Amino acid sequence: MCLAIALHSVTYARPVEDTMAQRTLACTACHGEQGRAGPDGYYPRLAGKPAGYLYNQLVNFREGRRHYTLMRGLIDPLDDSYLREIAQHFAALDLPYSPPAKPDAPTSVLEHGRKLVNNGDASRKIPACTQCHGTALTGVVPNVPGLLGLPRDYINGQLGGWRTGQRKATAPDCMGHVAKSLSNQDISAVSAWLSTQAVPGNGKPALTAPPKPPGAPDIQCGKDTTAETSRTPSDAQVARGSYLARIGNCALCHTARGGEPFAGGRDIKTPFGTVFSSNISPDKHFGIGGWTADDFWQAMHHGRSRDGRLLNPAFPYTSYTHVTREDSDALWAYLRSLKPSTRTNTPHAMQWPYGTQAALWAWRTLYFTPAGAASTRPAIQDSQIARGQYLVQGLGHCTECHAQRNVLGGLAKGAQGLGGVIPGSQWVAPSLYRSEESSVAGWATEDIQAFLRTGLTPRAIASGPMAEVVLHGTQYLTEGDATAMARYLKTLGPALATATAPTASTTPAQSLPPTGRGAALYDKHCAQCHGNAGEGYTKAYPALAGNRAVNMANTSNLALKVLYGGFGPTTAGHPRPYGMPPYRLLLSDAEIADVLTYIRSSWGNAGAAVPEFDINRIRTTSAP
Ligand code: HEC
Ligand code: HEC
Ligand code: HEC
Ligand code: HEC
Ligand code: HEC
Repeated sequence: MCLAIALHSVTYARPVEDTMAQRTLACTACHGEQGRAGPDGYYPRLAGKPAGYLYNQLVNFREGRRHYTLMRGLIDPLDDSYLREIAQHFAALDLPYSPPAKPDAPTSVLEHGRKLVNNGDASRKIPACTQCHGTALTGVVPNVPGLLGLPRDYINGQLGGWRTGQRKATAPDCMGHVAKSLSNQDISAVSAWLSTQAVPGNGKPALTAPPKPPGAPDIQCGKDTTAETSRTPSDAQVARGSYLARIGNCALCHTARGGEPFAGGRDIKTPFGTVFSSNISPDKHFGIGGWTADDFWQAMHHGRSRDGRLLNPAFPYTSYTHVTREDSDALWAYLRSLKPSTRTNTPHAMQWPYGTQAALWAWRTLYFTPAGAASTRPAIQDSQIARGQYLVQGLGHCTECHAQRNVLGGLAKGAQGLGGVIPGSQWVAPSLYRSEESSVAGWATEDIQAFLRTGLTPRAIASGPMAEVVLHGTQYLTEGDATAMARYLKTLGPALATATAPTASTTPAQSLPPTGRGAALYDKHCAQCHGNAGEGYTKAYPALAGNRAVNMANTSNLALKVLYGGFGPTTAGHPRPYGMPPYRLLLSDAEIADVLTYIRSSWGNAGAAVPEFDINRIRTTSAP
């Protein structure tokens, strides 16, 4: 009881420093203070590099042209304009460079490197590096980086990455050609020479590119990666469909990293294998351009493709079946207005027999009833709450995550009241029915609205998969629809709280005395942001004292949070979220277990101790 009261009175404490440096502490945890590079140069310097270049790299990581999983997870919930602001913040920093490395390569090698960098080798069609990177090799605004002040290993690594295709840039990817024209000896000579040169003028990039050598082709490399801004549809039905597609989050699943919008190919992990989303762009052959509105309705409402094939429920038609024909037609009109894509669908990689039509047929017999056939829901009188129910159960597909699934991935009878592990991930989506999990019955309607539209309230912050739901979906809700959903969600708590039997998760947790090590780790790594007494900072860092997510019986989300860190989603109402660094490389399983046990048993929290074993399980079964 005491705990329940404490949980409802969580508020953030003091305001926090309102600067970009504060917001990007999660980045400088690896990239060094103010982004001046990690101690051994493995984490590259960010400070003073051209803003367009930094921005392009962030987009490249997000879209799979460069790879570093721990960083990608951090930037996934951030939109382009915030990434640009982060890039500009680091670009504007003017910090001294450390002196260059002492040359340890033979003079002949250094001389070969110097020549290649400054003159290239016309006989082998190798351009001079200075041609693009500037005569002083400090880069050229806005998009070409400097080559000085980089460690040798880093240069080798990047050139090697371009040769193997590990690193790419948007077309024309000039460096792909340059790197492939260099031999191994060339690369080591170039990196040996570059890394031993002092950085002139604090590395400020040149404002104009050097003149092109006569006869050189006019290639615009290092182009800005900003995606085409989506057109605002003029047709009212198309505009309505575009809004509905946001709420249904169609683009998130139907767009592969770095792929064309709605062209499919995103891999969706399930416990039974990997399912790939389909091309739903209006191409007649590769997409669904040859379909009729009836075919589309059959997919949304009955989970059948045009040719009658039963669709995999990774496509959440178990929820979309509640969508009305009118809304289905609006979605259809919107999809038809998009650019057609000729991407071929990727075959699913399911374990036998789960992907077979027979298995899908059996599954559907158990767990799927098209809406309207046999509605078991009591009719809701209040039309606003009914609208909320329609959005939550239908396009919002909230229960696709917020429910416990059985071994076959179906919703067990009565399981709607329970939270559960999201299939194919380690995240737990807490129950929307239980006050100790994510029921919002006790919240003010405005707080629920704020959570859906901004991802942040004094009580909670959307993280992990929920951050993506807010980023791509619910932040676009109109105020009316957000209120409707909020009012409906409020009815869930009390209604089922009595109907479902308590499970282990509701029994009072045992509180252990804090171990000395947990407290010390907290002071060293966490208190700076979350406060000495877990009180947090207004609108920046969540309070951990009295925080429901911290006290929850299942500790998977806590382990994931500390292992991978994260940002809240960028939304119009909260455009510049703060971040938490990942601790995967810094803290051992035992240390994470200790610090979590400490925060779960301090400041009035009463969560059970976290065993080291649990952290180990999450670490070994989650990315990277
Ligand atoms: C866990 C450590 C880690 C964290 C946290 C991290 N990064 Fe990185 N970052 C790296 C590594 C490692 C690389 C180099 C990867 C490679 O070799 O391609 C990198 C590369 C980059 C680059 C490309 C630099 C260049 O010169 O090409 C940018 C830009 C960048 N990070 C920005 C950020 C921002 C912004 C954040 C915070 C949102 C962040 N990083 C958080 C480890 C990290
Ligand atoms: C035709 C223009 C062009 C030429 C010539 C060129 N570069 Fe580049 N280079 C670029 C661009 C553009 C980028 C940024 C790519 C991106 O956005 O990922 C880049 C990036 C790089 C990077 C990555 C820097 C970092 O911080 O991660 C390295 C290393 C590099 N170039 C080395 C070289 C070397 C060595 C040469 C000469 C042998 C060379 N480049 C010649 C255009 C060029
Ligand atoms: C959670 C991920 C997810 C979301 C969200 C999602 N889809 Fe899908 N969708 C899929 C997957 C996976 C498939 C492939 C299913 C299969 O092939 O069995 C699919 C298939 C489809 C198909 C059938 C295509 C065909 O060729 O048979 C249509 C139509 C479709 N989705 C439309 C939508 C629309 C419209 C939305 C938004 C309202 C949406 N999807 C949201 C994952 C998703
Ligand atoms: C892709 C899976 C997924 C979907 C879809 C999803 N959620 Fe969540 N949700 C989560 C996860 C995971 C958490 C726990 C992490 C967190 O607290 O942010 C969560 C947390 C929440 C919370 C808890 C806030 C708190 O900390 O007390 C609320 C409320 C919520 N979701 C509402 C919704 C609503 C409403 C929808 C439908 C519009 C929805 N969710 C759709 C995965 C999902
Ligand atoms: C640089 C600031 C910073 C540091 C240091 C930091 N955090 Fe965080 N933490 C955040 C931010 C910002 C969030 C919210 C963003 C999110 O959840 O994605 C957060 C979220 C959390 C959450 C989830 C709370 C919720 O309501 O879902 C937990 C638990 C947490 N941090 C624990 C820790 C622990 C334990 C440490 C030390 C090992 C730590 N944090 C260090 C900034 C920080």
